[in-house]
Amino acid sequence: MSRILVNGGHRLSGCVKIHGAKNAVLPILAATVMAEGVHTIHNCPKLSDVSVTCEILEKLGAHITRDGDTLVVDTTGEMESFIPESLMRKLRSSVIFLGAVLTRKKEAKISAPGGCELGPRPIDLHIKALRELGADIKEEHGYLICRADNLYGKDIHLDIPSVGATENIMLAACNADGVTTIKNAACEPEIEDLANFLNSMGACVSGAGTSTVTIVGKQELKASEHKVMPDRIVATTYLCAAAATGGEIDVLDVCPEHLSAVLAVLSDCGCRIIKGKDRVMLKAPQILKSPAAIKTMPYPGFPTDAQSLFLAMLTKSDGTTMITETIFESRYKAAGELLRMGAKISINGRVALVKGVNKLSGACVSAQDLRGGAALVIAALAADGKTVINSPEFIYRGYENLEENLQRLGADIVYEG
Ligand code: UD1
Repeated sequence: MSRILVNGGHRLSGCVKIHGAKNAVLPILAATVMAEGVHTIHNCPKLSDVSVTCEILEKLGAHITRDGDTLVVDTTGEMESFIPESLMRKLRSSVIFLGAVLTRKKEAKISAPGGCELGPRPIDLHIKALRELGADIKEEHGYLICRADNLYGKDIHLDIPSVGATENIMLAACNADGVTTIKNAACEPEIEDLANFLNSMGACVSGAGTSTVTIVGKQELKASEHKVMPDRIVATTYLCAAAATGGEIDVLDVCPEHLSAVLAVLSDCGCRIIKGKDRVMLKAPQILKSPAAIKTMPYPGFPTDAQSLFLAMLTKSDGTTMITETIFESRYKAAGELLRMGAKISINGRVALVKGVNKLSGACVSAQDLRGGAALVIAALAADGKTVINSPEFIYRGYENLEENLQRLGADIVYEG
């Protein structure tokens, strides 16, 4: 049984390079299906979620080679339109293949997607929008059977600015006659990165990164080359880890603008922050101040993916913080484990009250989802004594070389396989 062992209490200091964004690379890899040829995607981190996406691509008929952080995806020739449930269940973002496969094959058969258990994660908005574009979608024996002989551009208003639904509509709309406009689209930077890749393939997508995205369909698509944007949540993780240990860190290869919401809170916590063109330097105070409130919101608000990281960091702070999770229902799973380490957290529905303590103590804990697992690493680094983190496989869905990077920053952390 694998686990991560941490001897806490070491102040982190030094610099760390941030890898490509998981949430950008997954839809971009899915989009390679849409145009025949050899695509070259740079800055693809070695993550288990990326490996599963590659497995899905190979199942569909693509050939993939990796050279360092570059993936070469050859989608030449006949491709399949069926993704088995065993693969779909491994990944939430597998649902993005729906739009991509429909564009290439005019049909797709996929099951409901999986992913981290954060409460109900419906795909009703994806299905409703694809139907509005003219797709015929039936549900049979747990599978979605979709046909899209002719799609027609439409104005689509999303009830919620869903990241995945915005991406799926963008992909399907590339194959629609006429113009599709997505209103109340998600504004996350990963959507802009996907749009940049689609446009480099010959698509015509504008407005990505704002709440109105326009796609002019039926452009001729060709294979392309792209460098994936940096992972803003991984960058946030290292910043929080440094802050939690009273450390000093230089986070390199990031886009500081993408980090605005989290940097504002870190600054409220008393951290000194200097932003460069593609780097952020943080110097933590000896004791973190507690910001009064944190509320997760769609981008450019405070990201839900950073919520557990801040929850862990603020367990050692000088006051009380009220955290409100507005995006996902069950995103406080790390809290129960943090209590075992001496944290004072009370949860009431979507609100968590974190009362800072002077000291956390190492304990035996279990990762239960990706960011909750990373939160436990942050707490373990800040705790006195030894922490054992079981089920670390959740963490490797989203972090490459986590232990090595933290060791270089001065942490005493090892993976035990
Ligand atoms: C993406 C990110 C995830 C992040 C989330 C919110 C990827 C691979 N994952 O997930 O890391 O936490 O955005 O920033 O990019 N919803 C519906 N019906 C739908 C779709 C979504 O009700 O059809 C709801 C969800 O339950 C949730 C909210 O909308 O409450 C936002 O979800 P969404 O933006 O779709 O998240 P994902 O794309 O799954």
